[in-house]
Amino acid sequence: MTDAYAMAARAPGGSDMFHKVAITLPEPGPGQVRIRHTAVGVNFLDVYYRGGSYPWPVEADLVTGSEGAGVVEAVGAGVTEFAVGQRVAYTTPNGAYATHRLLEAALLVPLPDDIADEIAAAVMLKGLTAQYLLHHSFPVQAGQTVLFHAAAGGVGLIAGQWLAAKGVRAIGTAGGPEKCALALQNGYDAVIDYRAQDFVTEVGTLTDGKGVAVAYDSVGRDTIMGSLDALERFGTLVSFGQSSGAPDQLKIKDLTKGSYRLTRPTLFHHVARRDWLLRAAEDLFGMIRSGKIVIRIDRTLPLAEVAEAHDGLEGRRTTGSTVLIP
Ligand SMILES: NC(=O)c1ccc[n+]([C@@H]2O[C@H](COP(=O)([O-])OP(=O)(O)OC[C@H]3O[C@@H](n4cnc5c(N)ncnc54)[C@H](OP(=O)(O)O)[C@@H]3O)[C@@H](O)[C@H]2O)c1
Repeated sequence: MTDAYAMAARAPGGSDMFHKVAITLPEPGPGQVRIRHTAVGVNFLDVYYRGGSYPWPVEADLVTGSEGAGVVEAVGAGVTEFAVGQRVAYTTPNGAYATHRLLEAALLVPLPDDIADEIAAAVMLKGLTAQYLLHHSFPVQAGQTVLFHAAAGGVGLIAGQWLAAKGVRAIGTAGGPEKCALALQNGYDAVIDYRAQDFVTEVGTLTDGKGVAVAYDSVGRDTIMGSLDALERFGTLVSFGQSSGAPDQLKIKDLTKGSYRLTRPTLFHHVARRDWLLRAAEDLFGMIRSGKIVIRIDRTLPLAEVAEAHDGLEGRRTTGSTVLIP
């Protein structure tokens, strides 16, 4: 246990803020479980925290990282759902860039034998996000046409396959020809290179001027106004991220252009409902098991090289998911 460590950021800033710190392993309290990580996911959320665009939640070094898989090492009083040695996975904000951690048992899902640890670590945040976006934020129906930005990213590749499996026509956006080609292989019916083309004009052409039923927008500042203009009348804008910066230029009065609906959901409100978490994870694992969703792990890096993983994500060099191995 002496080799237990975390990759913590000293203060809000660049990826050079990461450094290795030794951690001690306290016994789990009531309702808690201690797990040893076998794989940890990397997400844009971690970049927001590390960079300071989300408030620093502690008065100390911050261990970011918001999804992972591992093995239960110890259980606290009152934990009946999980046992030592069991494989589990979870998503919760921060604390995952570590060899070990304590967690509330209510956040864990049991990992089925046929779901590998790396896959689980890559999908607990991104795949459950795709699940709620398509089933709760705007429950898509077969035959509808939707717009999904950053289609070649971690969430985007999962969403494209899920939309195709549901018989939904998905129009994606991505930066550059390689990412567009990859998104096309992952369920998207058409993919617009939004660095080279005006995506609103292209959506108009692809929908005979009608627009889309819903735009899922995680890019934020650079796309939000165009996403609204790409909607059909009474369409829904789901704003769920800000990879290019906060979309604060959007005003409520802008919705009057087409009597649009706007929602700004977050995964962790869904995860807090245990019945939803268990059902959604089962749904996601089922889609992976059936082969309808194939998880693309773009990069696997040692946990200690997390700075490199962040640089890739921020530099728009990644496709699919990045996984860290402790
Ligand atoms: N609200 C929620 O519950 C929730 C949950 C999960 C994720 N999210 C959000 O969903 C988004 C996707 O997350 P992810 O981890 O899967 O990341 P990702 O999509 O793999 O990476 C972000 C992508 O955004 C695009 N992008 C556009 N402008 C950018 C810029 N200025 N800087 C960097 N990237 C830019 C890039 O794709 P192109 O090169 O193709 O433009 C980049 O690859 C993030 O914004 C994340 O915060 C929200």
